[in-house]
Amino acid sequence: MGTVALRVLDAARAYQGRHEVSPVFSGVRLEVAAGEVFALLGPSGCGKSTLLRAIAGLEPLTTGRVEIAPSADGRRPTGIVYQEPRLLPWLTVAENVALGLRYKANRAARARTAVERALRDVGLVELAGAYPDALSGGQAQRVALARTLITGPSVLLLDEPFAALDPPTRAALQDRLVELAHGRGLAAVLVTHDVDEALRAGDRIGLMTPAPGTLARCWAVTGDDGALRAEILAAYHPVMEAMAV
Ligand SMILES: Nc1ncnc2c1ncn2[C@@H]1O[C@H](COP(=O)(O)OP(=O)(O)O)[C@@H](O)[C@H]1O
Ligand SMILES: [Mg+2]
Repeated sequence: MGTVALRVLDAARAYQGRHEVSPVFSGVRLEVAAGEVFALLGPSGCGKSTLLRAIAGLEPLTTGRVEIAPSADGRRPTGIVYQEPRLLPWLTVAENVALGLRYKANRAARARTAVERALRDVGLVELAGAYPDALSGGQAQRVALARTLITGPSVLLLDEPFAALDPPTRAALQDRLVELAHGRGLAAVLVTHDVDEALRAGDRIGLMTPAPGTLARCWAVTGDDGALRAEILAAYHPVMEAMAV
């Protein structure tokens, strides 16, 4: 494993209700290396999205901490991609991507070349002037990815980003994500419900238990994944069935 880019130390999150404290997840320990894709499986409600938001610094942990080397301007260099692309319909593709730079000091200076590069990264240069309603679901999600990449994250957080896409589009985007992570040295955490997506894109796979979630198992993905797939499904099915009752 290369340099650790993201470290989550004994993280727990609980919400204070009117009468009781509701734990969301607890005891989460995780390290993701630069250039590694960590796929995170787990049933609905086990705290995956909350964990990603906490890693991004968008909400606090109750205990534990997140360690990510800050960028030169002192920010936490994380970017999140959600299941829905969340594009602004009245802006072009290029303008939507430039929005990623909104909070960056050097926005005006390098916006144009940065937008072009981010669009090249996701294979969408020719659609720079298009509006979101002309895009397919996969293209829209590529724009969302470009809008995050333009901020120069060292840790990329993906919250079921491909769940709404058809299988071929999904596979193409999974592969693009892996190329970007491996090629650019990005640490990626990919939340998914889909074991095959985890196997295709993940260098390692983690499985969370039902709420309050904890990271119960971790596997390294090796070349021949037939046996691993069976092992992960055997661990995952009881978790999903426990949810269904
Ligand atoms: N702001 C909040 N206040 C109270 N409970 C919350 C809040 N945000 C999330 N939760 C609860 O935390 C649990 C985990 O949510 P979430 O992280 O979205 O799970 P997942 O992404 O794994 O489906 C859910 O039970 C949800 O109701
Ligand atoms: Mg979620």
